[in-house]
Amino acid sequence: MAKKTICDFDLKNKRVLIRVDFNVPLDKNLHVTDDNRIRASLPTIQYALDKGAKVVLMSHLGRPEGKPVSSMSLTPATKRLSELLKKDVIQCSDCVGPRVKDELSELDNSKPVAVLENLRFYPDEEKNNAEFARKLAENGDYYVNDAFGSSHRAHASIAAVTQYLPAAAGFLLEKEIKYLGEAIQKPKKPFVAILGGSKVSDKIGVVENLIAKVDKILIGGAMAYTFLKVQGIDIGDSKYEKDKTDLAKSILAKAKEKKVDILLPVDHVTVQKVDEAAPIKIEGPGISPGRLGVDIGPKTIELFNQTLDTAKTVIWNGPMGIFEMKPFSNGSREIATKLAHLKDAVTVIGGGDTAACVISFGLDGQMTHISTGGGASLEYLEGKVLPGIAALSEK
Ligand code: 3PG
Repeated sequence: MAKKTICDFDLKNKRVLIRVDFNVPLDKNLHVTDDNRIRASLPTIQYALDKGAKVVLMSHLGRPEGKPVSSMSLTPATKRLSELLKKDVIQCSDCVGPRVKDELSELDNSKPVAVLENLRFYPDEEKNNAEFARKLAENGDYYVNDAFGSSHRAHASIAAVTQYLPAAAGFLLEKEIKYLGEAIQKPKKPFVAILGGSKVSDKIGVVENLIAKVDKILIGGAMAYTFLKVQGIDIGDSKYEKDKTDLAKSILAKAKEKKVDILLPVDHVTVQKVDEAAPIKIEGPGISPGRLGVDIGPKTIELFNQTLDTAKTVIWNGPMGIFEMKPFSNGSREIATKLAHLKDAVTVIGGGDTAACVISFGLDGQMTHISTGGGASLEYLEGKVLPGIAALSEK
């Protein structure tokens, strides 16, 4: 990659300020319920430590809207990091200012890692304020961005901070760019995109960018109902986007023009109401009145799997049904299982819901890459330049 990476810095006896994405879910007792983003930052942190650096980490958590909110403190994430690193980690009381300076003066060989408090406790973070970024930069000698999940945000800790310190990518950011970037720019063919989730509008940018590159697009999840509707297929009471029907039509027309096959569900798991205990029925191609689709059916799974059998690159963004409810998770599980067993294929899973879905089936270890970015991976797949990547120093 043309940007500097952490390996380009001589870190010995230096302090490295690393922007991580520790925006992790917490339960009501403020325990981290999914530590994947913390784990994903470990290679960069460990590398910096091995090279003799002291490490200062910074992140946001949630959307506290520019003021301190105790339930959004980074303390639980710091605790989890400390367990994973098997080291004491200093939790700072703030992210800028004299108190932080004092707290960071305690960094030493027995405690070489500190975590600043939530950046979004200051409105200046989201405003990309230069003075705030300058103060953040005082906490390190070098800056490393390892927060792929936040790199679509032009915020002070992602963008403006790079004006004040030499700036490079960490290993996670590098890995995300490699797999997401290569999958799109030089895919091994056939290249298949699987799109799902609830809204056509969320995926329109991705479809527009991918349509020129992929051979086939498989569409599942609730977004499929908008496409089925415009083809005159009965969708019963299924959720669809009335105001996106023209958009769905234009996507289908564009795909035809580019000779890209769009495959839609040919059968569905349907219920009368979204409830795990609701009796299910398999119907297709149409759905009867009073019923709604909650997952793709067995014939669709077979159709999608046949297409995937020959694929050499697959990008998957958006579950096939309401996978969080066990009776409606079969379609997503079958697709994930198929991807896990593809031979010689590059399988890239978009972040957010799709990552959570693959992880919930225990199949995450069998994919080529699972992105840690939700919004960021969508924007990357849309072909947008992410501010966090653009801001890094050139090699
Ligand atoms: C995410 O969870 O997608 C990132 O941490 C970005 O969070 P944000 O959408 O609140 O900016």
